[in-house]
Amino acid sequence: MAGIVLVGAQWGDEGKGKITDLLADDMDYVVRFQGGNNAGHTIVHGGRTLKLHLIPSGIMYPHITPVIGNGVVIDPKVMLDEIDRLEADGISTHRLVVSSNAHLIMPYHRDLDGASEKRLGSNEIGTTRRGIGPAYMDKASRLGIRVQDLTDEHIFRKKIEAALIEKNELLEKIYDLPTYTVDEIVDEYMGYAERIRPMIADTSTLINVALRSDQWVFFEGAQGTLLDLDHGTYPFVTSSSPTAGGACTGAGVGPKAIDRVLGIAKAYITRVGSGPFPTELDSSPGSIGEHLTMKGGEFGTTTGRQRRCGWYDAVIIRYAVQINGLTDLVITKLDVLSELDTIKVCVAYEYEGRRYNDLPSHQTIFHHAKPIYEELPGWKCPIDHCRTFEELPKEARDYITFLEDLADVPVSIIAVGPDRSETIMRRWERRP
Ligand code: GDP
Ligand code: IMO
Ligand code: MG
Repeated sequence: MAGIVLVGAQWGDEGKGKITDLLADDMDYVVRFQGGNNAGHTIVHGGRTLKLHLIPSGIMYPHITPVIGNGVVIDPKVMLDEIDRLEADGISTHRLVVSSNAHLIMPYHRDLDGASEKRLGSNEIGTTRRGIGPAYMDKASRLGIRVQDLTDEHIFRKKIEAALIEKNELLEKIYDLPTYTVDEIVDEYMGYAERIRPMIADTSTLINVALRSDQWVFFEGAQGTLLDLDHGTYPFVTSSSPTAGGACTGAGVGPKAIDRVLGIAKAYITRVGSGPFPTELDSSPGSIGEHLTMKGGEFGTTTGRQRRCGWYDAVIIRYAVQINGLTDLVITKLDVLSELDTIKVCVAYEYEGRRYNDLPSHQTIFHHAKPIYEELPGWKCPIDHCRTFEELPKEARDYITFLEDLADVPVSIIAVGPDRSETIMRRWERRP
Protein backbone atom coordinates (compact mmCIF):
# COMPACT_ATOMS: atom_id res chain seq x y z
CA MET A 1 0.00 0.00 0.00
CA ALA A 2 1.29 3.47 -0.79
CA GLY A 3 -0.55 6.62 0.09
CA ILE A 4 1.55 9.75 -0.28
CA VAL A 5 0.32 13.18 0.75
CA LEU A 6 1.84 16.40 -0.55
CA VAL A 7 1.04 19.67 1.22
CA GLY A 8 2.23 23.24 0.98
CA ALA A 9 4.29 24.07 4.08
CA GLN A 10 3.98 27.86 3.75
CA TRP A 11 1.26 30.17 2.34
CA GLY A 12 0.77 28.38 -0.99
CA ASP A 13 2.48 28.53 -4.39
CA GLU A 14 5.41 26.46 -3.14
CA GLY A 15 5.61 24.45 -6.37
CA LYS A 16 3.06 21.72 -5.54
CA GLY A 17 2.11 21.41 -9.21
CA LYS A 18 5.69 20.86 -10.31
CA ILE A 19 6.43 18.24 -7.64
CA THR A 20 3.12 16.42 -8.17
CA ASP A 21 3.82 16.24 -11.90
CA LEU A 22 7.33 15.00 -11.20
CA LEU A 23 6.27 12.19 -8.84
CA ALA A 24 3.02 11.26 -10.60
CA ASP A 25 4.82 9.06 -13.11
CA ASP A 26 5.04 6.37 -10.39
CA MET A 27 1.43 6.77 -9.23
CA ASP A 28 -1.83 5.13 -10.22
CA TYR A 29 -4.07 7.88 -8.84
CA VAL A 30 -3.57 11.61 -8.19
CA VAL A 31 -6.27 13.04 -5.93
CA ARG A 32 -7.17 16.65 -5.16
CA PHE A 33 -8.78 16.68 -1.70
CA GLN A 34 -9.63 20.31 -0.83
CA GLY A 35 -9.85 23.83 -2.18
CA GLY A 36 -11.13 24.67 -5.62
CA ASN A 37 -10.11 26.94 -8.42
CA ASN A 38 -8.49 29.33 -5.96
CA ALA A 39 -5.50 27.04 -6.59
CA GLY A 40 -3.13 27.67 -9.46
CA HIS A 41 -0.64 24.87 -10.06
CA THR A 42 1.99 25.26 -12.76
CA ILE A 43 3.65 22.40 -14.60
CA VAL A 44 6.56 22.92 -16.98
CA HIS A 45 7.76 20.02 -19.09
CA GLY A 46 9.69 20.02 -22.33
CA GLY A 47 8.99 23.64 -23.21
CA ARG A 48 5.29 23.34 -22.42
CA THR A 49 3.62 25.16 -19.50
CA LEU A 50 0.31 24.06 -18.03
CA LYS A 51 -1.60 26.08 -15.47
CA LEU A 52 -4.12 23.96 -13.59
CA HIS A 53 -6.80 25.10 -11.17
CA LEU A 54 -8.99 22.06 -10.51
CA ILE A 55 -7.63 19.16 -12.51
CA PRO A 56 -4.99 17.15 -10.56
CA SER A 57 -1.40 17.79 -11.64
CA GLY A 58 -0.83 14.16 -12.71
CA ILE A 59 -2.91 14.78 -15.85
CA MET A 60 0.13 14.76 -18.18
CA TYR A 61 0.50 10.97 -17.73
CA PRO A 62 -2.04 8.87 -19.61
CA HIS A 63 -1.80 5.98 -17.11
CA ILE A 64 -2.94 8.10 -14.14
CA THR A 65 -6.50 8.27 -12.89
CA PRO A 66 -7.03 11.88 -11.79
CA VAL A 67 -9.57 12.24 -8.99
CA ILE A 68 -11.41 15.28 -7.65
CA GLY A 69 -12.31 14.24 -4.12
CA ASN A 70 -15.30 15.03 -1.92
CA GLY A 71 -13.44 17.81 -0.07
CA VAL A 72 -13.07 19.97 -3.18
CA VAL A 73 -15.51 22.72 -4.17
CA ILE A 74 -16.11 22.64 -7.92
CA ASP A 75 -17.06 25.47 -10.21
CA PRO A 76 -18.40 23.32 -13.05
CA LYS A 77 -17.81 25.89 -15.77
CA VAL A 78 -14.19 26.31 -14.71
CA MET A 79 -13.70 22.55 -14.63
CA LEU A 80 -15.22 22.01 -18.08
CA ASP A 81 -13.23 24.91 -19.57
CA GLU A 82 -10.06 23.44 -18.10
CA ILE A 83 -10.90 20.04 -19.58
CA ASP A 84 -11.51 21.64 -23.00
CA ARG A 85 -8.21 23.51 -22.84
CA LEU A 86 -6.30 20.35 -21.95
CA GLU A 87 -8.00 18.33 -24.69
CA ALA A 88 -7.23 21.09 -27.23
CA ASP A 89 -3.60 20.75 -26.13
CA GLY A 90 -3.70 17.02 -26.83
CA ILE A 91 -3.88 15.99 -23.14
CA SER A 92 -6.51 13.37 -22.51
CA THR A 93 -8.86 13.90 -19.57
CA HIS A 94 -11.13 10.93 -20.19
CA ARG A 95 -10.04 9.15 -16.99
CA LEU A 96 -11.00 12.06 -14.72
CA VAL A 97 -13.40 11.08 -11.93
CA VAL A 98 -15.29 13.46 -9.70
CA SER A 99 -16.71 12.69 -6.27
CA SER A 100 -20.50 12.64 -6.07
CA ASN A 101 -20.15 14.30 -2.65
CA ALA A 102 -18.05 17.28 -3.75
CA HIS A 103 -19.85 20.60 -3.43
CA LEU A 104 -20.59 22.94 -6.30
CA ILE A 105 -19.68 26.60 -6.50
CA MET A 106 -22.77 28.51 -7.58
CA PRO A 107 -22.94 31.94 -9.25
CA TYR A 108 -24.14 33.53 -5.99
CA HIS A 109 -21.06 32.19 -4.19
CA ARG A 110 -18.82 34.16 -6.54
CA ASP A 111 -20.96 37.29 -6.11
CA LEU A 112 -20.98 36.99 -2.32
CA ASP A 113 -17.21 36.41 -2.18
CA GLY A 114 -16.57 39.65 -4.09
CA ALA A 115 -19.26 41.59 -2.21
CA SER A 116 -18.08 40.58 1.25
CA GLU A 117 -14.50 41.48 0.36
CA LYS A 118 -15.69 44.87 -0.83
CA ARG A 119 -17.61 45.37 2.37
CA LEU A 120 -14.53 44.56 4.47
CA GLY A 121 -12.67 47.39 2.69
CA SER A 122 -9.18 47.82 4.11
CA ASN A 123 -9.74 44.73 6.27
CA GLU A 124 -10.28 42.50 3.25
CA ILE A 125 -8.80 39.00 3.27
CA GLY A 126 -7.64 39.33 -0.32
CA THR A 127 -9.48 36.21 -1.47
CA THR A 128 -9.29 34.98 -5.03
CA ARG A 129 -13.00 35.92 -5.36
CA ARG A 130 -13.77 32.53 -6.87
CA GLY A 131 -16.61 31.84 -4.40
CA ILE A 132 -14.58 29.41 -2.30
CA GLY A 133 -15.47 30.75 1.16
CA PRO A 134 -19.21 31.10 0.48
CA ALA A 135 -19.35 27.56 -1.02
CA TYR A 136 -17.72 26.05 2.08
CA MET A 137 -20.04 28.18 4.26
CA ASP A 138 -23.05 26.59 2.56
CA LYS A 139 -21.50 23.15 2.95
CA ALA A 140 -21.10 23.72 6.71
CA SER A 141 -24.57 25.23 7.05
CA ARG A 142 -26.06 22.30 5.07
CA LEU A 143 -27.39 24.49 2.29
CA GLY A 144 -24.82 23.32 -0.24
CA ILE A 145 -25.47 21.78 -3.64
CA ARG A 146 -23.46 18.65 -4.40
CA VAL A 147 -22.21 17.10 -7.62
CA GLN A 148 -24.71 14.24 -7.23
CA ASP A 149 -27.57 16.76 -7.26
CA LEU A 150 -26.74 17.37 -10.93
CA THR A 151 -28.05 13.90 -11.75
CA ASP A 152 -31.61 14.64 -10.66
CA GLU A 153 -33.15 17.83 -12.03
CA HIS A 154 -36.10 17.63 -9.65
CA ILE A 155 -33.89 17.51 -6.53
CA PHE A 156 -31.52 20.10 -7.98
CA ARG A 157 -34.41 22.51 -8.59
CA LYS A 158 -35.77 22.04 -5.06
CA LYS A 159 -32.38 22.73 -3.54
CA ILE A 160 -31.87 25.84 -5.65
CA GLU A 161 -35.33 27.07 -4.65
CA ALA A 162 -34.40 26.66 -0.99
CA ALA A 163 -31.00 28.28 -1.38
CA LEU A 164 -32.25 31.27 -3.38
CA ILE A 165 -34.71 32.31 -0.69
CA GLU A 166 -31.74 33.22 1.46
CA LYS A 167 -29.20 34.13 -1.24
CA ASN A 168 -31.45 36.55 -3.11
CA GLU A 169 -32.24 38.37 0.13
CA LEU A 170 -28.56 38.66 0.88
CA LEU A 171 -27.67 39.81 -2.62
CA GLU A 172 -30.46 42.35 -2.84
CA LYS A 173 -30.88 43.67 0.69
CA ILE A 174 -27.37 43.53 2.09
CA TYR A 175 -25.21 43.94 -0.99
CA ASP A 176 -27.50 45.74 -3.46
CA LEU A 177 -26.67 43.22 -6.18
CA PRO A 178 -28.84 41.55 -8.86
CA THR A 179 -30.71 38.40 -7.82
CA TYR A 180 -31.12 35.04 -9.60
CA THR A 181 -34.15 33.12 -10.81
CA VAL A 182 -34.43 29.39 -10.17
CA ASP A 183 -34.83 28.74 -13.89
CA GLU A 184 -31.68 30.50 -15.00
CA ILE A 185 -29.53 28.55 -12.54
CA VAL A 186 -31.24 25.24 -13.29
CA ASP A 187 -30.82 25.78 -17.04
CA GLU A 188 -27.16 26.68 -16.74
CA TYR A 189 -26.23 23.82 -14.41
CA MET A 190 -28.29 21.18 -16.23
CA GLY A 191 -26.20 22.08 -19.28
CA TYR A 192 -23.05 21.21 -17.30
CA ALA A 193 -24.70 18.09 -15.88
CA GLU A 194 -24.82 16.44 -19.30
CA ARG A 195 -21.04 16.50 -19.52
CA ILE A 196 -20.22 15.87 -15.86
CA ARG A 197 -22.53 12.87 -15.33
CA PRO A 198 -20.12 10.25 -16.78
CA MET A 199 -17.31 11.47 -14.50
CA ILE A 200 -19.24 11.11 -11.25
CA ALA A 201 -18.12 8.28 -8.96
CA ASP A 202 -17.86 7.11 -5.37
CA THR A 203 -14.24 8.23 -5.25
CA SER A 204 -13.65 7.19 -1.64
CA THR A 205 -14.41 3.55 -2.48
CA LEU A 206 -12.36 3.81 -5.67
CA ILE A 207 -9.31 5.05 -3.74
CA ASN A 208 -9.69 2.56 -0.89
CA VAL A 209 -9.96 -0.36 -3.31
CA ALA A 210 -6.85 0.91 -5.10
CA LEU A 211 -4.90 1.18 -1.86
CA ARG A 212 -5.93 -2.34 -0.80
CA SER A 213 -4.65 -3.71 -4.11
CA ASP A 214 -1.24 -2.06 -3.58
CA GLN A 215 -1.74 0.71 -6.07
CA TRP A 216 -0.05 4.04 -5.43
CA VAL A 217 -2.20 7.04 -4.58
CA PHE A 218 -0.89 10.58 -4.44
CA PHE A 219 -2.93 13.19 -2.56
CA GLU A 220 -2.18 16.63 -4.01
CA GLY A 221 -2.83 19.48 -1.60
CA ALA A 222 -3.72 22.98 -2.67
CA GLN A 223 -2.94 26.22 -0.77
CA GLY A 224 -0.63 25.73 2.24
CA THR A 225 -0.42 25.02 5.96
CA LEU A 226 -0.69 28.66 7.04
CA LEU A 227 -3.83 29.08 4.91
CA ASP A 228 -5.55 26.22 6.79
CA LEU A 229 -8.89 27.19 8.30
CA ASP A 230 -7.97 25.68 11.69
CA HIS A 231 -4.21 25.94 11.80
CA GLY A 232 -3.40 28.94 9.60
CA THR A 233 -3.19 32.67 10.21
CA TYR A 234 -6.94 33.04 10.82
CA PRO A 235 -8.87 35.01 9.57
CA PHE A 236 -6.40 35.46 6.70
CA VAL A 237 -6.84 31.87 5.54
CA THR A 238 -8.82 29.88 3.02
CA SER A 239 -11.98 28.00 4.02
CA SER A 240 -10.71 24.41 3.77
CA SER A 241 -8.09 22.12 5.36
CA PRO A 242 -4.97 22.12 3.18
CA THR A 243 -3.05 20.24 5.88
CA ALA A 244 -2.39 16.48 5.86
CA GLY A 245 -5.48 15.64 7.92
CA GLY A 246 -7.54 17.23 5.16
CA ALA A 247 -6.41 14.46 2.81
CA CYS A 248 -8.28 11.91 4.95
CA THR A 249 -11.55 13.82 5.20
CA GLY A 250 -11.29 15.30 1.72
CA ALA A 251 -10.64 11.98 -0.03
CA GLY A 252 -12.39 9.57 2.31
CA VAL A 253 -9.45 7.47 3.53
CA GLY A 254 -8.30 6.59 7.03
CA PRO A 255 -5.06 7.95 8.50
CA LYS A 256 -3.41 4.53 8.21
CA ALA A 257 -3.63 4.85 4.42
CA ILE A 258 -0.92 7.53 4.52
CA ASP A 259 2.67 6.29 4.37
CA ARG A 260 4.54 9.47 3.65
CA VAL A 261 3.79 13.18 3.98
CA LEU A 262 5.79 15.61 1.85
CA GLY A 263 5.87 19.28 2.79
CA ILE A 264 6.81 21.67 0.02
CA ALA A 265 8.56 24.93 0.82
CA LYS A 266 10.26 27.55 -1.30
CA ALA A 267 13.87 28.37 -0.44
CA TYR A 268 12.33 31.72 0.60
CA ILE A 269 8.62 32.40 1.23
CA THR A 270 5.71 34.19 -0.43
CA ARG A 271 2.15 35.12 0.40
CA VAL A 272 -0.74 36.44 -1.73
CA GLY A 273 -3.47 38.52 -0.14
CA SER A 274 -3.60 40.12 3.29
CA GLY A 275 -2.38 38.95 6.67
CA PRO A 276 0.68 38.88 8.91
CA PHE A 277 4.05 37.98 7.41
CA PRO A 278 7.02 38.35 9.81
CA THR A 279 9.85 37.93 7.26
CA GLU A 280 8.25 40.05 4.52
CA LEU A 281 10.73 42.06 2.46
CA ASP A 282 10.26 45.48 1.00
CA SER A 283 9.82 45.21 -2.77
CA SER A 284 10.78 48.72 -3.86
CA PRO A 285 13.00 49.09 -6.95
CA GLY A 286 16.50 47.71 -6.40
CA SER A 287 15.53 45.83 -3.21
CA ILE A 288 16.09 42.13 -2.50
CA GLY A 289 12.30 41.73 -2.33
CA GLU A 290 11.99 43.06 -5.88
CA HIS A 291 14.82 40.76 -7.01
CA LEU A 292 13.03 37.67 -5.60
CA THR A 293 9.73 38.80 -7.13
CA MET A 294 11.21 39.23 -10.60
CA LYS A 295 13.65 36.29 -10.62
CA GLY A 296 11.09 33.99 -9.03
CA GLY A 297 8.27 35.20 -11.29
CA GLU A 298 6.21 35.80 -8.17
CA PHE A 299 2.89 36.72 -9.74
CA GLY A 300 -0.20 34.67 -8.91
CA THR A 301 -1.14 31.83 -11.27
CA THR A 302 -4.84 32.40 -10.56
CA THR A 303 -5.26 36.14 -10.08
CA GLY A 304 -2.02 37.57 -11.49
CA ARG A 305 -1.48 39.50 -8.24
CA GLN A 306 2.10 40.21 -7.19
CA ARG A 307 3.10 37.85 -4.40
CA ARG A 308 4.64 39.30 -1.26
CA CYS A 309 8.16 37.87 -0.80
CA GLY A 310 10.23 37.24 2.32
CA TRP A 311 13.12 35.28 3.77
CA TYR A 312 12.69 31.58 4.59
CA ASP A 313 10.98 31.22 7.95
CA ALA A 314 12.10 28.11 9.84
CA VAL A 315 9.57 28.72 12.63
CA ILE A 316 6.77 28.28 10.10
CA ILE A 317 8.37 25.14 8.69
CA ARG A 318 8.76 23.56 12.14
CA TYR A 319 5.08 24.29 12.68
CA ALA A 320 4.24 22.68 9.32
CA VAL A 321 6.28 19.61 10.31
CA GLN A 322 4.19 19.33 13.48
CA ILE A 323 0.73 20.01 12.04
CA ASN A 324 1.18 17.71 9.04
CA GLY A 325 3.46 15.07 10.53
CA LEU A 326 5.85 15.71 7.65
CA THR A 327 8.20 12.87 6.82
CA ASP A 328 10.08 14.82 4.16
CA LEU A 329 10.71 18.37 3.06
CA VAL A 330 10.91 19.42 -0.57
CA ILE A 331 12.72 22.71 -1.19
CA THR A 332 11.87 24.49 -4.44
CA LYS A 333 13.20 27.58 -6.23
CA LEU A 334 16.69 27.29 -4.78
CA ASP A 335 17.93 28.74 -8.08
CA VAL A 336 16.11 32.01 -7.35
CA LEU A 337 18.64 32.73 -4.56
CA SER A 338 21.70 32.13 -6.79
CA GLU A 339 22.69 35.79 -7.26
CA LEU A 340 22.50 36.87 -3.62
CA ASP A 341 25.67 37.70 -1.64
CA THR A 342 24.14 36.50 1.61
CA ILE A 343 20.87 34.79 2.50
CA LYS A 344 18.91 35.26 5.70
CA VAL A 345 16.92 32.57 7.47
CA CYS A 346 14.50 33.33 10.29
CA VAL A 347 15.26 30.91 13.14
CA ALA A 348 12.97 32.36 15.85
CA TYR A 349 10.86 35.44 16.65
CA GLU A 350 11.18 38.15 19.24
CA TYR A 351 8.21 39.92 20.84
CA GLU A 352 8.37 42.25 23.86
CA GLY A 353 11.81 40.97 24.82
CA ARG A 354 10.87 37.30 24.70
CA ARG A 355 12.18 34.75 22.20
CA TYR A 356 9.73 32.43 20.43
CA ASN A 357 11.22 29.30 18.86
CA ASP A 358 7.76 28.02 17.97
CA LEU A 359 4.84 29.70 16.26
CA PRO A 360 3.09 31.86 18.87
CA SER A 361 -0.48 30.70 19.29
CA HIS A 362 -1.85 34.20 19.89
CA GLN A 363 -2.39 36.15 16.69
CA THR A 364 -1.30 39.47 18.23
CA ILE A 365 2.15 38.07 18.95
CA PHE A 366 2.45 36.64 15.44
CA HIS A 367 1.32 39.98 13.94
CA HIS A 368 4.06 41.86 15.79
CA ALA A 369 6.76 39.17 15.86
CA LYS A 370 10.21 40.38 14.81
CA PRO A 371 12.28 37.75 13.01
CA ILE A 372 15.61 36.68 14.49
CA TYR A 373 17.83 35.94 11.51
CA GLU A 374 20.95 33.93 10.83
CA GLU A 375 22.84 34.97 7.72
CA LEU A 376 24.48 32.47 5.40
CA PRO A 377 26.85 33.08 2.47
CA GLY A 378 25.37 32.88 -1.03
CA TRP A 379 26.87 30.73 -3.82
CA LYS A 380 26.79 33.38 -6.56
CA CYS A 381 26.61 31.03 -9.53
CA PRO A 382 23.86 29.30 -11.53
CA ILE A 383 22.67 25.93 -10.19
CA ASP A 384 19.84 25.05 -12.56
CA HIS A 385 22.03 22.44 -14.33
CA CYS A 386 22.71 20.51 -11.07
CA ARG A 387 21.04 17.10 -10.86
CA THR A 388 22.73 15.66 -7.76
CA PHE A 389 23.25 17.15 -4.32
CA GLU A 390 27.02 16.81 -4.73
CA GLU A 391 26.97 18.98 -7.88
CA LEU A 392 25.56 21.92 -5.91
CA PRO A 393 28.13 24.51 -4.75
CA LYS A 394 29.20 24.07 -1.11
CA GLU A 395 27.27 27.15 0.07
CA ALA A 396 24.04 25.81 -1.48
CA ARG A 397 24.57 22.41 0.17
CA ASP A 398 25.23 24.14 3.48
CA TYR A 399 22.05 26.19 3.06
CA ILE A 400 19.97 23.03 2.51
CA THR A 401 21.64 21.23 5.42
CA PHE A 402 20.94 24.25 7.62
CA LEU A 403 17.22 24.18 6.69
CA GLU A 404 17.16 20.43 7.28
CA ASP A 405 18.67 20.78 10.77
CA LEU A 406 16.17 23.51 11.66
CA ALA A 407 13.21 21.42 10.49
CA ASP A 408 14.48 18.11 11.84
CA VAL A 409 13.19 16.23 8.79
CA PRO A 410 15.20 15.33 5.68
CA VAL A 411 15.16 17.50 2.57
CA SER A 412 14.44 14.73 0.09
CA ILE A 413 13.89 16.66 -3.13
CA ILE A 414 15.34 20.00 -4.28
CA ALA A 415 14.02 21.96 -7.27
CA VAL A 416 16.47 24.18 -9.15
CA GLY A 417 14.20 25.36 -11.98
CA PRO A 418 10.57 25.21 -13.11
CA ASP A 419 10.97 22.30 -15.55
CA ARG A 420 10.22 18.76 -14.42
CA SER A 421 13.84 17.83 -15.18
CA GLU A 422 15.33 20.64 -13.07
CA THR A 423 15.21 18.62 -9.89
CA ILE A 424 17.57 16.87 -7.49
CA MET A 425 16.19 13.60 -6.12
CA ARG A 426 18.18 13.28 -2.93
CA ARG A 427 16.22 10.77 -0.90
CA TRP A 428 13.55 9.46 -3.20
CA GLU A 429 13.50 5.98 -4.71
CA ARG A 430 11.45 5.33 -7.82
CA ARG A 431 8.73 2.70 -7.56
CA PRO A 432 10.21 -0.76 -8.17
P1 GDP B 1 1.75 25.71 -6.57
O1 GDP B 1 0.51 26.50 -6.42
O2 GDP B 1 2.32 25.26 -5.27
O3 GDP B 1 1.63 24.58 -7.55
O4 GDP B 1 2.83 26.71 -7.17
P2 GDP B 1 2.60 27.72 -8.42
O5 GDP B 1 2.62 26.93 -9.67
O6 GDP B 1 1.46 28.63 -8.14
O7 GDP B 1 3.89 28.63 -8.28
C1 GDP B 1 5.18 28.11 -8.35
C2 GDP B 1 5.90 28.77 -9.54
O8 GDP B 1 7.28 28.51 -9.46
C3 GDP B 1 5.47 28.22 -10.89
O9 GDP B 1 5.55 29.24 -11.85
C4 GDP B 1 6.49 27.14 -11.18
O10 GDP B 1 6.69 26.90 -12.57
C5 GDP B 1 7.72 27.76 -10.58
N1 GDP B 1 8.71 26.81 -10.03
C6 GDP B 1 8.50 25.64 -9.37
N2 GDP B 1 9.68 25.13 -8.93
C7 GDP B 1 10.63 26.00 -9.34
C8 GDP B 1 12.05 26.05 -9.15
O11 GDP B 1 12.67 25.20 -8.52
N3 GDP B 1 12.70 27.14 -9.69
C9 GDP B 1 12.06 28.12 -10.36
N4 GDP B 1 12.78 29.12 -10.85
N5 GDP B 1 10.73 28.11 -10.55
C10 GDP B 1 10.03 27.07 -10.02
P1 IMO C 1 -2.16 27.31 -4.54
O1 IMO C 1 -2.84 25.95 -4.51
C1 IMO C 1 -1.66 31.19 -2.62
C2 IMO C 1 -5.15 32.82 -0.54
C3 IMO C 1 -5.79 34.07 -1.11
C4 IMO C 1 -6.30 34.72 0.17
C5 IMO C 1 -6.75 33.52 1.00
C6 IMO C 1 -8.24 33.21 0.91
O2 IMO C 1 -1.88 27.79 -5.90
O3 IMO C 1 -0.99 27.33 -3.62
P2 IMO C 1 -9.76 32.14 -0.98
O4 IMO C 1 -10.05 32.57 -2.38
O5 IMO C 1 -9.17 30.77 -0.88
O6 IMO C 1 -10.94 32.30 -0.07
O7 IMO C 1 -8.66 33.19 -0.44
O8 IMO C 1 -6.02 32.41 0.50
N1 IMO C 1 -5.01 31.70 -1.49
C7 IMO C 1 -3.86 31.32 -2.03
N2 IMO C 1 -2.62 31.85 -1.95
N3 IMO C 1 -1.86 30.06 -3.33
C8 IMO C 1 -3.08 29.49 -3.40
O9 IMO C 1 -3.30 28.30 -3.98
C9 IMO C 1 -4.16 30.15 -2.77
N4 IMO C 1 -5.48 29.90 -2.66
C10 IMO C 1 -5.98 30.84 -1.86
O10 IMO C 1 -4.84 34.87 -1.77
O11 IMO C 1 -5.24 35.34 0.84
MG1 MG D 1 -0.27 28.37 -6.98
